[in-house]
Amino acid sequence: MTWNATIVGTGLGVPSKVVTNKDFEKMVDTSDEWIRTRTGICERRFIDRDKGETLETIALQAGKKALENAKTKPEDIDLIIFATTSPDTFMPNMSCRMTASLGLVNAAAIDQNAACSGFVLGMHTADSFIRSGQYKNIMVIGGEALSSALDMKDRSTCVLFGDGAGAAIVQAVENADLSKDSVILGSKFYAKADVKESLSMAGGGTRTPYWHEDFAKVGPYIRMQGQDVFKEATRGMVRAAKEVMAQCEVMPSDIKWFVPHQANLRIIEMVGKMLEIPSEKTYINLDRWGNTSAATVITCLAEMEEKNMINKGDLVLMDVFGGGFSYGALLARW
Ligand code: UT7
Repeated sequence: MTWNATIVGTGLGVPSKVVTNKDFEKMVDTSDEWIRTRTGICERRFIDRDKGETLETIALQAGKKALENAKTKPEDIDLIIFATTSPDTFMPNMSCRMTASLGLVNAAAIDQNAACSGFVLGMHTADSFIRSGQYKNIMVIGGEALSSALDMKDRSTCVLFGDGAGAAIVQAVENADLSKDSVILGSKFYAKADVKESLSMAGGGTRTPYWHEDFAKVGPYIRMQGQDVFKEATRGMVRAAKEVMAQCEVMPSDIKWFVPHQANLRIIEMVGKMLEIPSEKTYINLDRWGNTSAATVITCLAEMEEKNMINKGDLVLMDVFGGGFSYGALLARW
């Protein structure tokens, strides 16, 4: 008997506050024109604390919708994987929190921190667990509330990121025919230590805790050397996507949808060109969401499903890069 994983439902968690590039013009020395042309971002969403929104509330919205779309009962989920770099609290972690809010009474719970690669790495983990026969119904959530880690005086980072969440339900299929059935066909992940800490949230961990005298110097914020990260992201995403296509014996022309990490439109276009996948096959929500880190790919997939853009049998290539650095790609037949 063999086991493979199939994606049976997705859901979206949408924070209510919309923040436009024009709003940032009032806070830092920037312009709508610079942000649009250098990144492709027009607006992003932040959780609204005044309305009681947290990462958990938007993840709950996504998780409920995914269960409904997958026609799966909460008690049937045997594992939840929550990918995030911005948990509401480090302990209890997000996946344990969700077992209560979603009623996952029979689930084990894992948090995975792989920054922007998080959701797709979560899918890679879910696929491996299902192939091993260990779990049958896994919920994978990618969610971030990174607005809480933005230095609103640092124009080089504050305009880039947004909050959001999405969830997918992944189920086991017995003895699938890999030449035609709807399954995850393959995935490949790598890491390359970011020794210079070009992309970091340096304060607040145990190296520099909040009470430490050095904390004021590093702060609780995301810092990024954009150009260093840009080069690594392009290189990593191209490598991983090429290797997955080769592993699954798929040509770029076979790909129906390319769903890359949404950090910068210029990176997406460059990677697409190097992979020979045209822009018509590339899904973008960066313009409306900004970089939602671990949530980028799943918010794209959930939106695409809401719009009925993905049909059964379509080959969907996900391709990500994030802090760490961590990067990888996953190919699924829908
Ligand atoms: O999600 C995880 C992975 N993250 C990524 O993949 C992000 C990768 N990096 C990038 O997307 C780009 O490097 C950025 C969008 C972050 C920056 O774009 P860039 O074209 O690399 O700009 P830069 O950092 O080279 O800065 C160019 C200029 C600088 O001014 P000077 O030194 O030329 O006078 C910056 O100070 O743009 C300036 N600048 C801004 N100007 C207006 C930086 N941020 C802003 C801003 N508004 N918000």
